[in-house]
Amino acid sequence: MALIALDSIEDGGFAEIEALIDGDAESLIVHRNGANVRAWLNVCPHAGRRLDWAPGKFLKSKEGHLICAAHGASFELERGDCVAGPCRGDSLRAVAVEVRDGQVLLSG
Ligand code: FES
Repeated sequence: MALIALDSIEDGGFAEIEALIDGDAESLIVHRNGANVRAWLNVCPHAGRRLDWAPGKFLKSKEGHLICAAHGASFELERGDCVAGPCRGDSLRAVAVEVRDGQVLLSG
């Protein structure tokens, strides 16, 4: 099932989408980097809050990190590891996605 069209995500930017993961409706962060995408659960490892400050609106630092809007934890965008802030050393939970025919899909 297509989650979102790749072209509808700004390059370097983010989208928030809802998807069924293991039978549960979850909010996902989808990050586009050129032709590639990564996705994580939209659940901060610090206090379990969503990372967006409004639906689908994510903060990105000038270093290129995703910033949790709740208390400012910073995540690098290769692995979703928290590199600064209250949950440093923890990671976002990755969700496997792929691009096929211009659409972002859950893998597997
Ligand atoms: S919930 Fe994300 S930094 Fe606190």
